[in-house]
Amino acid sequence: MPSPAITSWWALGVLYQIYPRSFQDADGDGVGDLKGIIARLPYLVDLGVDAIWLSPIFPSPMADFGYDIADYVGIDPLFGTMDDFDALVAAAHGAGLKLILDLVPNHTSDQHPWFIESRSSRDNPKRDWYLWRDPAPDGGPPNNWLSEFGGSGWQYDERTQQYHYHAFLAQQPDLNWRNPDVRAAVYQVMRFWLRKGVDGFRVDVIWHLIKDDQFRDNPPNPDFRPGMPPHAALHPVYSADRPETLQVVAEMRRVIDEFDARVLIGEIYLPIERLVAYYGEGLAGAQLPFNFALLSAPWHARTLAALIERYEAALPPGAWPNWVLGNHDRPRVASRVGPAQARVAAMLLLTLRGTPTMYYGDEIGMQQVPIAPDQVRDPFEKNVPGIGVGRDGCRTPMQWDATEHAGFSSAEPWLPLAADSAQENVANLNPDAQSILNLYRALIALRKRLPQLAHGDYAPLAADGDLLLYRRHDAEGSVLIALNLGAEPVSVVSETIGLDGEILLSTAMDRGGERVGSELSLRGHEGVIVGPAPDDVV
Ligand code: GLC
Repeated sequence: MPSPAITSWWALGVLYQIYPRSFQDADGDGVGDLKGIIARLPYLVDLGVDAIWLSPIFPSPMADFGYDIADYVGIDPLFGTMDDFDALVAAAHGAGLKLILDLVPNHTSDQHPWFIESRSSRDNPKRDWYLWRDPAPDGGPPNNWLSEFGGSGWQYDERTQQYHYHAFLAQQPDLNWRNPDVRAAVYQVMRFWLRKGVDGFRVDVIWHLIKDDQFRDNPPNPDFRPGMPPHAALHPVYSADRPETLQVVAEMRRVIDEFDARVLIGEIYLPIERLVAYYGEGLAGAQLPFNFALLSAPWHARTLAALIERYEAALPPGAWPNWVLGNHDRPRVASRVGPAQARVAAMLLLTLRGTPTMYYGDEIGMQQVPIAPDQVRDPFEKNVPGIGVGRDGCRTPMQWDATEHAGFSSAEPWLPLAADSAQENVANLNPDAQSILNLYRALIALRKRLPQLAHGDYAPLAADGDLLLYRRHDAEGSVLIALNLGAEPVSVVSETIGLDGEILLSTAMDRGGERVGSELSLRGHEGVIVGPAPDDVV
Protein backbone atom coordinates (compact mmCIF):
# COMPACT_ATOMS: atom_id res chain seq x y z
CA MET A 1 0.00 0.00 0.00
CA PRO A 2 1.81 3.17 -1.11
CA SER A 3 1.89 5.95 1.46
CA PRO A 4 -0.19 9.03 0.54
CA ALA A 5 2.98 11.10 0.20
CA ILE A 6 4.01 9.21 -2.89
CA THR A 7 1.61 11.06 -5.13
CA SER A 8 2.81 14.50 -4.00
CA TRP A 9 4.94 16.58 -6.35
CA TRP A 10 7.55 17.11 -3.65
CA ALA A 11 7.88 13.35 -3.23
CA LEU A 12 8.05 12.42 -6.88
CA GLY A 13 9.96 15.44 -8.15
CA VAL A 14 13.58 16.53 -8.21
CA LEU A 15 14.42 19.70 -6.25
CA TYR A 16 17.08 22.13 -7.49
CA GLN A 17 18.63 24.76 -5.24
CA ILE A 18 19.49 28.12 -6.74
CA TYR A 19 21.80 30.49 -4.91
CA PRO A 20 20.34 33.63 -6.50
CA ARG A 21 23.47 35.76 -6.19
CA SER A 22 25.31 33.33 -8.44
CA PHE A 23 22.86 31.90 -10.95
CA GLN A 24 22.33 34.58 -13.58
CA ASP A 25 22.84 38.32 -13.52
CA ALA A 26 20.43 40.16 -15.83
CA ASP A 27 21.14 43.77 -14.81
CA GLY A 28 24.91 43.75 -15.13
CA ASP A 29 26.00 44.42 -11.53
CA GLY A 30 27.92 41.19 -11.09
CA VAL A 31 25.28 39.69 -8.77
CA GLY A 32 22.54 37.31 -9.91
CA ASP A 33 18.90 38.38 -9.80
CA LEU A 34 15.29 37.31 -10.35
CA LYS A 35 15.16 38.37 -13.99
CA GLY A 36 18.24 36.23 -14.53
CA ILE A 37 16.49 33.23 -13.00
CA ILE A 38 13.46 33.81 -15.24
CA ALA A 39 15.73 33.85 -18.27
CA ARG A 40 17.20 30.48 -17.29
CA LEU A 41 13.95 28.64 -16.56
CA PRO A 42 14.03 26.88 -19.96
CA TYR A 43 17.40 25.40 -18.99
CA LEU A 44 15.86 23.98 -15.81
CA VAL A 45 12.88 22.58 -17.67
CA ASP A 46 15.23 20.95 -20.13
CA LEU A 47 17.28 19.51 -17.27
CA GLY A 48 14.07 17.94 -16.03
CA VAL A 49 13.90 19.23 -12.45
CA ASP A 50 10.49 19.82 -10.92
CA ALA A 51 11.02 22.51 -8.33
CA ILE A 52 13.49 25.25 -7.56
CA TRP A 53 14.25 26.59 -4.13
CA LEU A 54 15.84 29.97 -3.81
CA SER A 55 18.18 31.05 -1.05
CA PRO A 56 16.93 34.34 0.47
CA ILE A 57 15.95 37.19 -1.86
CA PHE A 58 14.54 39.54 0.79
CA PRO A 59 15.81 43.00 1.80
CA SER A 60 18.99 42.47 3.76
CA PRO A 61 22.18 44.25 4.75
CA MET A 62 23.83 41.06 3.41
CA ALA A 63 26.03 40.48 6.45
CA ASP A 64 25.32 36.78 5.82
CA PHE A 65 24.29 37.22 2.18
CA GLY A 66 20.57 37.38 2.74
CA TYR A 67 20.30 35.09 5.77
CA ASP A 68 20.05 38.34 7.75
CA ILE A 69 16.61 39.59 6.77
CA ALA A 70 15.48 43.16 7.36
CA ASP A 71 12.05 42.75 5.77
CA TYR A 72 10.38 39.36 5.43
CA VAL A 73 7.84 40.50 2.87
CA GLY A 74 9.91 42.43 0.37
CA ILE A 75 12.47 41.79 -2.34
CA ASP A 76 16.00 43.18 -2.05
CA PRO A 77 16.63 45.65 -4.91
CA LEU A 78 19.79 43.72 -5.66
CA PHE A 79 17.56 40.87 -6.83
CA GLY A 80 14.78 42.97 -8.37
CA THR A 81 11.29 44.06 -7.43
CA MET A 82 8.09 42.46 -6.22
CA ASP A 83 6.86 42.66 -9.81
CA ASP A 84 9.88 40.62 -10.85
CA PHE A 85 9.03 38.12 -8.17
CA ASP A 86 5.43 37.84 -9.31
CA ALA A 87 6.72 37.40 -12.85
CA LEU A 88 9.02 34.63 -11.62
CA VAL A 89 6.17 32.78 -9.91
CA ALA A 90 4.06 33.05 -13.07
CA ALA A 91 6.90 32.01 -15.36
CA ALA A 92 7.96 29.09 -13.15
CA HIS A 93 4.41 27.82 -12.85
CA GLY A 94 3.86 28.37 -16.55
CA ALA A 95 6.89 26.19 -17.19
CA GLY A 96 5.59 23.50 -14.84
CA LEU A 97 8.10 24.27 -12.08
CA LYS A 98 7.30 24.69 -8.41
CA LEU A 99 8.92 27.51 -6.50
CA ILE A 100 10.14 27.15 -2.92
CA LEU A 101 11.41 30.06 -0.83
CA ASP A 102 13.85 30.18 2.04
CA LEU A 103 12.17 31.08 5.33
CA VAL A 104 14.63 32.31 7.95
CA PRO A 105 12.61 32.42 11.18
CA ASN A 106 15.35 31.75 13.74
CA HIS A 107 16.85 35.21 13.46
CA THR A 108 16.40 38.52 11.70
CA SER A 109 18.89 41.14 10.71
CA ASP A 110 19.78 43.63 13.43
CA GLN A 111 18.37 46.15 10.94
CA HIS A 112 14.91 44.58 11.01
CA PRO A 113 12.39 47.06 12.50
CA TRP A 114 11.42 44.41 15.07
CA PHE A 115 14.97 44.33 16.43
CA ILE A 116 15.44 48.08 16.22
CA GLU A 117 12.38 48.43 18.44
CA SER A 118 13.39 45.58 20.70
CA ARG A 119 16.81 47.08 21.27
CA SER A 120 15.47 50.57 21.95
CA SER A 121 14.52 50.01 25.61
CA ARG A 122 13.92 47.29 28.15
CA ASP A 123 10.21 48.06 28.24
CA ASN A 124 9.62 48.22 24.50
CA PRO A 125 6.70 45.93 23.57
CA LYS A 126 9.03 44.04 21.24
CA ARG A 127 11.74 43.57 23.87
CA ASP A 128 10.65 39.98 24.44
CA TRP A 129 10.67 39.20 20.71
CA TYR A 130 14.41 38.54 21.01
CA LEU A 131 16.53 36.83 23.65
CA TRP A 132 17.77 39.52 26.03
CA ARG A 133 19.51 38.47 29.23
CA ASP A 134 21.33 40.20 32.05
CA PRO A 135 25.11 39.86 32.18
CA ALA A 136 26.59 37.14 34.35
CA PRO A 137 27.64 38.35 37.84
CA ASP A 138 31.13 39.11 36.48
CA GLY A 139 29.62 41.26 33.72
CA GLY A 140 30.38 38.68 31.04
CA PRO A 141 27.93 36.83 28.76
CA PRO A 142 24.91 35.20 30.45
CA ASN A 143 26.10 31.67 29.67
CA ASN A 144 28.68 29.78 27.62
CA TRP A 145 26.72 29.44 24.36
CA LEU A 146 28.82 29.95 21.27
CA SER A 147 28.06 31.49 17.90
CA GLU A 148 28.31 29.09 14.96
CA PHE A 149 30.38 31.76 13.26
CA GLY A 150 32.96 32.05 16.04
CA GLY A 151 33.12 33.65 19.47
CA SER A 152 30.44 34.04 22.10
CA GLY A 153 26.79 33.78 21.10
CA TRP A 154 26.06 36.90 23.15
CA GLN A 155 26.42 40.54 22.17
CA TYR A 156 26.36 43.27 24.81
CA ASP A 157 24.16 46.31 24.29
CA GLU A 158 25.48 49.40 26.10
CA ARG A 159 22.21 51.29 26.03
CA THR A 160 20.05 48.72 27.80
CA GLN A 161 22.91 46.86 29.51
CA GLN A 162 21.80 43.42 28.49
CA TYR A 163 23.07 40.84 26.05
CA HIS A 164 21.19 39.50 23.05
CA TYR A 165 21.72 35.95 21.83
CA HIS A 166 22.76 35.20 18.27
CA ALA A 167 23.39 31.65 17.07
CA PHE A 168 25.17 33.14 14.03
CA LEU A 169 26.49 36.70 13.56
CA ALA A 170 25.84 39.42 16.15
CA GLN A 171 23.98 41.12 13.27
CA GLN A 172 21.62 38.11 13.22
CA PRO A 173 19.80 38.31 16.58
CA ASP A 174 17.74 35.20 17.41
CA LEU A 175 14.00 35.65 17.72
CA ASN A 176 12.27 34.40 20.86
CA TRP A 177 10.10 31.56 19.57
CA ARG A 178 8.55 31.09 23.01
CA ASN A 179 6.74 34.38 22.41
CA PRO A 180 3.36 33.75 20.72
CA ASP A 181 3.46 37.13 18.96
CA VAL A 182 6.69 36.15 17.21
CA ARG A 183 5.09 32.92 16.04
CA ALA A 184 1.99 34.71 14.80
CA ALA A 185 4.08 37.30 12.95
CA VAL A 186 6.17 34.70 11.14
CA TYR A 187 3.09 32.63 10.28
CA GLN A 188 1.65 35.75 8.67
CA VAL A 189 4.86 36.04 6.63
CA MET A 190 4.37 32.46 5.46
CA ARG A 191 0.77 33.17 4.44
CA PHE A 192 1.88 36.28 2.55
CA TRP A 193 4.13 34.21 0.28
CA LEU A 194 1.82 31.22 0.09
CA ARG A 195 -0.96 33.51 -1.14
CA LYS A 196 1.41 34.71 -3.82
CA GLY A 197 1.54 31.16 -5.04
CA VAL A 198 4.82 30.00 -3.51
CA ASP A 199 4.82 26.20 -3.25
CA GLY A 200 6.56 25.88 0.07
CA PHE A 201 9.50 26.80 2.25
CA ARG A 202 12.88 25.49 3.10
CA VAL A 203 13.13 26.60 6.71
CA ASP A 204 16.56 27.80 7.75
CA VAL A 205 18.08 26.15 10.86
CA ILE A 206 14.68 24.91 11.97
CA TRP A 207 16.21 22.83 14.76
CA HIS A 208 17.55 26.00 16.41
CA LEU A 209 14.22 27.75 16.95
CA ILE A 210 13.65 27.09 20.64
CA LYS A 211 16.30 27.48 23.32
CA ASP A 212 16.40 26.19 26.85
CA ASP A 213 14.03 28.24 29.02
CA GLN A 214 16.64 28.29 31.81
CA PHE A 215 19.55 29.16 29.50
CA ARG A 216 21.72 26.43 31.01
CA ASP A 217 25.36 26.16 29.94
CA ASN A 218 26.11 23.74 27.12
CA PRO A 219 28.37 20.84 28.14
CA PRO A 220 31.84 20.47 26.63
CA ASN A 221 32.30 18.19 23.64
CA PRO A 222 34.92 15.58 24.60
CA ASP A 223 35.61 14.88 20.92
CA PHE A 224 36.59 18.47 20.17
CA ARG A 225 39.99 18.78 18.50
CA PRO A 226 41.97 21.81 17.34
CA GLY A 227 41.16 22.56 13.73
CA MET A 228 37.45 22.02 14.26
CA PRO A 229 35.22 25.12 14.12
CA PRO A 230 35.33 26.74 17.58
CA HIS A 231 31.61 26.28 18.30
CA ALA A 232 32.16 22.51 18.15
CA ALA A 233 33.86 22.83 21.55
CA LEU A 234 30.42 22.49 23.14
CA HIS A 235 27.48 20.13 22.67
CA PRO A 236 24.59 22.48 21.87
CA VAL A 237 22.12 20.48 23.95
CA TYR A 238 20.53 23.57 25.51
CA SER A 239 20.68 25.93 22.52
CA ALA A 240 19.28 23.70 19.78
CA ASP A 241 17.00 20.70 19.12
CA ARG A 242 14.91 21.36 22.24
CA PRO A 243 11.80 19.19 22.45
CA GLU A 244 9.47 22.21 22.19
CA THR A 245 10.84 22.95 18.70
CA LEU A 246 8.70 20.15 17.34
CA GLN A 247 5.56 21.98 18.45
CA VAL A 248 6.64 24.98 16.39
CA VAL A 249 7.34 22.77 13.38
CA ALA A 250 3.85 21.29 13.69
CA GLU A 251 2.38 24.81 13.83
CA MET A 252 4.28 25.77 10.69
CA ARG A 253 2.96 22.67 9.01
CA ARG A 254 -0.58 23.67 9.90
CA VAL A 255 0.01 27.00 8.15
CA ILE A 256 1.33 25.12 5.11
CA ASP A 257 -1.77 22.90 5.17
CA GLU A 258 -4.08 25.90 5.04
CA PHE A 259 -3.08 25.88 1.37
CA ASP A 260 -3.21 23.12 -1.22
CA ALA A 261 -0.21 20.97 -2.07
CA ARG A 262 2.54 22.99 -0.39
CA VAL A 263 5.66 21.68 1.26
CA LEU A 264 7.57 22.31 4.47
CA ILE A 265 11.25 21.42 4.26
CA GLY A 266 13.52 21.75 7.27
CA GLU A 267 17.23 22.49 7.27
CA ILE A 268 18.46 20.14 9.98
CA TYR A 269 22.00 19.03 10.75
CA LEU A 270 21.40 16.31 13.33
CA PRO A 271 22.20 12.62 13.63
CA ILE A 272 19.68 10.50 11.70
CA GLU A 273 17.84 9.34 14.82
CA ARG A 274 17.12 12.95 15.88
CA LEU A 275 16.57 14.18 12.32
CA VAL A 276 13.60 11.89 11.76
CA ALA A 277 11.82 13.35 14.81
CA TYR A 278 11.17 16.41 12.61
CA TYR A 279 8.61 14.46 10.57
CA GLY A 280 6.57 15.03 13.72
CA GLU A 281 4.04 12.98 15.66
CA GLY A 282 1.73 11.38 13.12
CA LEU A 283 3.81 12.99 10.35
CA ALA A 284 2.40 16.39 11.30
CA GLY A 285 5.81 18.07 11.10
CA ALA A 286 8.05 18.79 8.13
CA GLN A 287 7.27 16.70 5.05
CA LEU A 288 10.97 16.74 4.20
CA PRO A 289 13.47 17.19 7.02
CA PHE A 290 16.52 17.62 4.83
CA ASN A 291 18.78 14.59 5.04
CA PHE A 292 22.36 15.85 4.73
CA ALA A 293 24.06 12.53 5.46
CA LEU A 294 25.66 12.39 1.99
CA LEU A 295 27.31 15.79 2.47
CA SER A 296 29.82 14.43 4.94
CA ALA A 297 29.73 10.67 4.43
CA PRO A 298 33.09 9.03 3.73
CA TRP A 299 32.89 7.85 0.12
CA HIS A 300 33.11 4.10 0.74
CA ALA A 301 30.60 1.49 -0.36
CA ARG A 302 30.16 -0.03 3.06
CA THR A 303 29.79 3.31 4.84
CA LEU A 304 27.23 4.50 2.33
CA ALA A 305 25.29 1.25 2.43
CA ALA A 306 25.23 1.40 6.22
CA LEU A 307 24.02 4.97 6.30
CA ILE A 308 21.29 4.34 3.73
CA GLU A 309 20.07 1.40 5.76
CA ARG A 310 20.25 3.33 9.01
CA TYR A 311 18.22 6.14 7.49
CA GLU A 312 15.67 3.82 5.90
CA ALA A 313 15.29 1.98 9.22
CA ALA A 314 14.90 5.19 11.21
CA LEU A 315 12.09 6.64 9.07
CA PRO A 316 8.75 6.72 10.85
CA PRO A 317 6.01 4.69 9.11
CA GLY A 318 4.77 6.55 6.05
CA ALA A 319 7.52 9.19 6.17
CA TRP A 320 8.97 10.02 2.78
CA PRO A 321 12.80 10.05 2.59
CA ASN A 322 15.02 12.61 0.88
CA TRP A 323 18.66 13.01 -0.06
CA VAL A 324 20.79 16.12 -0.57
CA LEU A 325 24.08 16.07 -2.48
CA GLY A 326 25.15 19.69 -2.24
CA ASN A 327 24.23 23.10 -0.90
CA HIS A 328 25.56 26.61 -0.42
CA ASP A 329 27.16 25.77 2.93
CA ARG A 330 29.22 22.70 2.10
CA PRO A 331 32.06 21.95 -0.34
CA ARG A 332 30.98 20.98 -3.85
CA VAL A 333 30.39 17.27 -4.39
CA ALA A 334 32.79 17.19 -7.36
CA SER A 335 35.56 18.32 -5.02
CA ARG A 336 34.53 16.11 -2.13
CA VAL A 337 34.54 12.89 -4.15
CA GLY A 338 36.50 13.93 -7.25
CA PRO A 339 35.24 14.56 -10.78
CA ALA A 340 35.07 10.87 -11.76
CA GLN A 341 33.04 9.92 -8.72
CA ALA A 342 30.80 12.98 -9.17
CA ARG A 343 29.05 10.97 -11.87
CA VAL A 344 28.60 8.01 -9.53
CA ALA A 345 27.30 10.40 -6.88
CA ALA A 346 24.74 11.71 -9.37
CA MET A 347 23.57 8.18 -10.04
CA LEU A 348 23.35 7.48 -6.33
CA LEU A 349 21.33 10.63 -5.63
CA LEU A 350 18.90 9.97 -8.45
CA THR A 351 18.37 6.27 -7.77
CA LEU A 352 17.93 6.30 -4.01
CA ARG A 353 14.44 6.19 -2.54
CA GLY A 354 13.39 9.69 -1.63
CA THR A 355 13.23 13.19 -3.02
CA PRO A 356 16.61 14.19 -4.48
CA THR A 357 17.88 17.75 -3.99
CA MET A 358 20.53 19.04 -6.36
CA TYR A 359 22.62 22.17 -5.98
CA TYR A 360 23.02 24.48 -8.97
CA GLY A 361 26.14 23.76 -11.00
CA ASP A 362 26.61 20.23 -9.68
CA GLU A 363 25.03 19.05 -12.92
CA ILE A 364 27.99 20.49 -14.83
CA GLY A 365 30.49 19.12 -12.34
CA MET A 366 31.36 22.50 -10.83
CA GLN A 367 34.29 22.30 -8.46
CA GLN A 368 34.97 24.10 -5.24
CA VAL A 369 36.73 27.29 -6.39
CA PRO A 370 39.84 28.32 -4.44
CA ILE A 371 39.32 31.76 -2.88
CA ALA A 372 42.33 33.98 -2.21
CA PRO A 373 42.35 35.65 1.22
CA ASP A 374 41.58 39.07 -0.28
CA GLN A 375 38.57 37.65 -2.14
CA VAL A 376 36.85 36.15 0.89
CA ARG A 377 33.26 37.32 1.27
CA ASP A 378 31.85 34.72 3.64
CA PRO A 379 31.57 36.04 7.22
CA PHE A 380 32.19 32.53 8.61
CA GLU A 381 35.61 32.39 6.90
CA LYS A 382 36.35 35.98 7.93
CA ASN A 383 35.63 35.21 11.59
CA VAL A 384 37.24 31.78 11.65
CA PRO A 385 39.93 31.95 8.99
CA GLY A 386 42.19 29.25 7.70
CA ILE A 387 40.51 26.03 8.85
CA GLY A 388 38.51 25.46 5.70
CA VAL A 389 35.04 26.57 6.79
CA GLY A 390 34.72 29.17 4.00
CA ARG A 391 31.62 28.83 1.86
CA ASP A 392 32.51 31.17 -1.00
CA GLY A 393 34.10 28.34 -2.99
CA CYS A 394 30.76 26.57 -3.45
CA ARG A 395 28.88 29.79 -4.25
CA THR A 396 30.75 30.91 -7.36
CA PRO A 397 28.89 31.98 -10.51
CA MET A 398 27.14 29.41 -12.64
CA GLN A 399 29.20 28.59 -15.70
CA TRP A 400 26.98 29.05 -18.73
CA ASP A 401 29.43 29.55 -21.58
CA ALA A 402 32.99 30.47 -22.52
CA THR A 403 32.50 34.23 -22.72
CA GLU A 404 34.38 36.59 -20.44
CA HIS A 405 32.20 36.17 -17.34
CA ALA A 406 30.95 32.73 -18.30
CA GLY A 407 27.61 34.06 -19.50
CA PHE A 408 26.77 34.79 -15.87
CA SER A 409 27.11 38.55 -16.08
CA SER A 410 28.35 41.36 -18.28
CA ALA A 411 30.28 42.68 -15.25
CA GLU A 412 32.95 41.31 -12.95
CA PRO A 413 31.12 38.70 -10.81
CA TRP A 414 30.90 39.16 -7.04
CA LEU A 415 32.93 35.97 -6.55
CA PRO A 416 35.62 34.64 -8.89
CA LEU A 417 34.77 32.16 -11.60
CA ALA A 418 36.29 28.71 -11.66
CA ALA A 419 39.56 28.62 -13.61
CA ASP A 420 38.12 25.96 -15.92
CA SER A 421 34.88 27.80 -16.69
CA ALA A 422 35.83 28.25 -20.35
CA GLN A 423 35.59 24.45 -20.77
CA GLU A 424 33.29 23.30 -18.01
CA ASN A 425 30.16 25.19 -18.93
CA VAL A 426 26.65 24.50 -20.11
CA ALA A 427 27.29 25.57 -23.71
CA ASN A 428 30.21 23.16 -24.03
CA LEU A 429 28.68 20.24 -22.19
CA ASN A 430 25.32 20.45 -23.93
CA PRO A 431 26.34 18.98 -27.29
CA ASP A 432 28.63 16.38 -25.69
CA ALA A 433 26.42 13.30 -25.45
CA GLN A 434 28.57 11.82 -22.68
CA SER A 435 28.92 14.92 -20.52
CA ILE A 436 27.95 14.96 -16.87
CA LEU A 437 25.19 17.40 -17.81
CA ASN A 438 23.66 14.87 -20.16
CA LEU A 439 24.14 12.18 -17.54
CA TYR A 440 22.07 14.25 -15.10
CA ARG A 441 19.41 14.75 -17.78
CA ALA A 442 19.31 11.03 -18.52
CA LEU A 443 19.14 10.11 -14.84
CA ILE A 444 16.28 12.50 -14.19
CA ALA A 445 14.44 11.27 -17.29
CA LEU A 446 14.91 7.64 -16.25
CA ARG A 447 13.65 8.40 -12.75
CA LYS A 448 10.52 9.81 -14.36
CA ARG A 449 10.10 6.87 -16.73
CA LEU A 450 10.58 4.05 -14.24
CA PRO A 451 8.11 3.96 -11.36
CA GLN A 452 10.53 1.74 -9.43
CA LEU A 453 13.06 4.57 -9.34
CA ALA A 454 10.49 7.16 -8.37
CA HIS A 455 8.80 5.26 -5.57
CA GLY A 456 9.87 1.63 -5.48
CA ASP A 457 11.22 0.10 -2.30
CA TYR A 458 14.91 0.11 -1.55
CA ALA A 459 16.60 -3.27 -1.12
CA PRO A 460 20.29 -3.44 -0.30
CA LEU A 461 22.13 -6.23 -2.11
CA ALA A 462 25.82 -5.84 -1.43
CA ALA A 463 28.50 -3.48 -0.28
CA ASP A 464 31.71 -5.21 -1.03
CA GLY A 465 35.02 -3.45 -1.52
CA ASP A 466 34.20 -0.58 -3.85
CA LEU A 467 30.94 -2.05 -5.06
CA LEU A 468 27.61 -0.72 -3.86
CA LEU A 469 24.69 -2.72 -5.15
CA TYR A 470 20.99 -2.23 -4.50
CA ARG A 471 17.63 -2.77 -6.04
CA ARG A 472 14.59 -0.56 -6.34
CA HIS A 473 11.45 -2.58 -6.81
CA ASP A 474 7.69 -2.57 -6.77
CA ALA A 475 5.02 -5.11 -7.65
CA GLU A 476 5.64 -4.50 -11.36
CA GLY A 477 9.33 -5.21 -11.41
CA SER A 478 12.75 -4.17 -10.29
CA VAL A 479 15.75 -2.12 -11.25
CA LEU A 480 19.29 -2.85 -10.19
CA ILE A 481 21.85 -0.17 -9.42
CA ALA A 482 25.53 -1.08 -9.33
CA LEU A 483 28.02 1.61 -8.37
CA ASN A 484 31.78 1.27 -8.45
CA LEU A 485 33.18 3.72 -5.94
CA GLY A 486 36.76 2.96 -6.83
CA ALA A 487 39.20 3.32 -9.72
CA GLU A 488 39.63 -0.43 -10.37
CA PRO A 489 37.18 -2.54 -12.39
CA VAL A 490 34.77 -4.74 -10.44
CA SER A 491 32.34 -7.39 -11.50
CA VAL A 492 29.12 -8.85 -10.20
CA VAL A 493 28.14 -12.42 -10.86
CA SER A 494 24.60 -12.66 -12.06
CA GLU A 495 23.59 -15.82 -10.18
CA THR A 496 24.07 -14.24 -6.80
CA ILE A 497 21.60 -11.48 -7.46
CA GLY A 498 19.49 -12.61 -10.38
CA LEU A 499 20.35 -10.03 -13.01
CA ASP A 500 18.09 -9.68 -15.95
CA GLY A 501 17.44 -7.06 -18.55
CA GLU A 502 19.85 -4.61 -20.04
CA ILE A 503 21.94 -1.63 -19.09
CA LEU A 504 19.57 1.31 -19.12
CA LEU A 505 22.25 3.81 -18.28
CA SER A 506 25.95 3.87 -17.48
CA THR A 507 27.59 6.89 -15.85
CA ALA A 508 29.91 6.85 -18.89
CA MET A 509 26.84 7.15 -21.16
CA ASP A 510 28.16 4.53 -23.58
CA ARG A 511 26.56 1.19 -22.67
CA GLY A 512 22.84 1.82 -22.99
CA GLY A 513 21.06 -1.25 -24.39
CA GLU A 514 23.87 -3.68 -23.53
CA ARG A 515 22.34 -7.03 -22.55
CA VAL A 516 23.46 -8.23 -19.14
CA GLY A 517 24.67 -11.83 -19.17
CA SER A 518 26.01 -14.00 -16.40
CA GLU A 519 28.37 -11.31 -15.21
CA LEU A 520 28.13 -7.57 -14.98
CA SER A 521 31.46 -5.79 -15.28
CA LEU A 522 32.00 -2.24 -14.19
CA ARG A 523 34.92 -0.08 -15.16
CA GLY A 524 36.62 2.10 -12.57
CA HIS A 525 34.33 4.92 -11.40
CA GLU A 526 31.41 3.47 -13.29
CA GLY A 527 27.84 3.07 -12.17
CA VAL A 528 25.08 1.35 -14.12
CA ILE A 529 21.37 0.95 -13.91
CA VAL A 530 20.07 -2.41 -15.10
CA GLY A 531 16.42 -2.99 -15.78
CA PRO A 532 13.89 -4.30 -18.22
CA ALA A 533 14.52 -3.11 -21.76
CA PRO A 534 12.21 -0.20 -22.61
CA ASP A 535 10.27 -2.49 -24.97
CA ASP A 536 9.57 -4.91 -22.11
CA VAL A 537 7.92 -2.17 -20.10
CA VAL A 538 4.21 -2.27 -20.54
C1 GLC B 1 21.78 28.24 7.41
C2 GLC B 1 22.13 28.72 6.04
C3 GLC B 1 23.47 29.39 6.08
C4 GLC B 1 23.38 30.56 7.02
C5 GLC B 1 22.88 30.12 8.39
C6 GLC B 1 22.48 31.28 9.22
O1 GLC B 1 22.62 27.25 7.84
O2 GLC B 1 22.07 27.67 5.13
O3 GLC B 1 23.91 29.79 4.83
O4 GLC B 1 24.62 31.18 7.14
O5 GLC B 1 21.74 29.31 8.29
O6 GLC B 1 21.31 31.86 8.72
